[in-house]
Amino acid sequence: MQADTILVTGGAGFIGSNFVLQWIANEASSVINLDKLTYAGNPANLAKVASDRRYKFLQGDICDRELVAELLLTHSPRAIVHFAAESHVDRSIHGPDDFVRTNVNGTFSLLEETRAYWSGLEGEARTAFRFLHVSTDEVYGSLGPTDPAFSESTRYAPNSPYSASKAASDHLVRAYFHTYGLPTVTTNCSNNYGPFQFPEKLIPLVILHALSGKPIPVYGDGQNVRDWLFVADHCEAIRLVLARGRVGETYNIGGHNELKNLDVVNTICSVLDELRSQHAVLPHSKLITYVTDRPGHDRRYAMDIGKIESELNWRPRETFETGIRKTIHWYLENPAWIQSVTTGSYRQWMATQYSL
Ligand code: NAD
Ligand code: DAU
Repeated sequence: MQADTILVTGGAGFIGSNFVLQWIANEASSVINLDKLTYAGNPANLAKVASDRRYKFLQGDICDRELVAELLLTHSPRAIVHFAAESHVDRSIHGPDDFVRTNVNGTFSLLEETRAYWSGLEGEARTAFRFLHVSTDEVYGSLGPTDPAFSESTRYAPNSPYSASKAASDHLVRAYFHTYGLPTVTTNCSNNYGPFQFPEKLIPLVILHALSGKPIPVYGDGQNVRDWLFVADHCEAIRLVLARGRVGETYNIGGHNELKNLDVVNTICSVLDELRSQHAVLPHSKLITYVTDRPGHDRRYAMDIGKIESELNWRPRETFETGIRKTIHWYLENPAWIQSVTTGSYRQWMATQYSL
């Protein structure tokens, strides 16, 4: 491992693994990935870098303070990029305990051990150190159809156990900057999609159900709006915030792609009609099935990304049309990955959530 190593938490999950792959492909320095490997963590996502001398994987829990303390002292990272979390809103409704444990207590433990480590640094190592906290637009609550998009100064109003736990973690990060001077930066991002996303989330779930001719569950009236961001664009934004973001600040990241869920689902179905024109069920949209709505379902999210655009000159490269094609092609080309993640525990979740 090199001197300018970074520590990534949750790097075996969807966004974290895309981030690690992008980091190793574009940066000169090393990455240590601390991940507990919950149902959402998958080392197979990182097969491409597994034997790279700049990559090291450690299975462990961010709540394990002894482990984190030892890891920081042994590897002396110059930055921490904190992805590790329980991330699925529906699971947080069924069982919020793990969300509070990892997202709140886990972030607290990580902050405490980081503060102890950072306090022992001197000179340039201390000045240059960063703790980048990856958060979500859901902390801002829900918008009406004509409300202005969320900005960095929008009042927090989380509505689900998931978003409440992320909001709590954001507040802790903020407090560690203001109270202890820990050099933190927070990013709040909209809905990601792309390769390696676990198929409990809308886009991969729709792709898989359409391919296998299963009902495509749309919650409520399908008119909820999300702002979709291709994961590689998100990872680029994080790298930029890490390199040039101002300490103590938060940056909103979004895709400029506000879409109703039904439009997302119909777009996926029509791309599959074109790519899988011999499928037994055509058009694929015949599979759309309206199901009971998510309790407390936020109606609309939208991100004002003016700050990161003007300060860091970042904007998303992909439109939804280009990003969704790349994503669908990835799922079509990776049946072994799909098979490996749709195991017994996945089927159990589908039965709990959808009675499928
Ligand atoms: P994910 O669920 O795919 O992955 C989470 C990863 O964290 C998994 O690898 C899991 O094993 C690991 N993990 C969970 N608990 C842990 C613990 N106690 N200790 C160590 N590792 C643990 O999540 P994701 O979609 O990749 O999201 C990553 C981060 O980005 C999360 O903080 C999430 O809140 C945030 N975020 C996600 C989205 C999105 O659309 N997916 C959007 C905005 C923000
Ligand atoms: O906005 C950022 C957030 O996006 C992240 O912080 C979360 O970690 C991430 O999971 C995601 O949350 P959502 O709840 O928006 O994502 P999900 O893919 O679960 O749902 C997207 C929309 O689709 C939402 O309005 C609910 C709806 N939906 C979802 C599923 C799984 C359906 O209609 N049917 C479904 O089966």
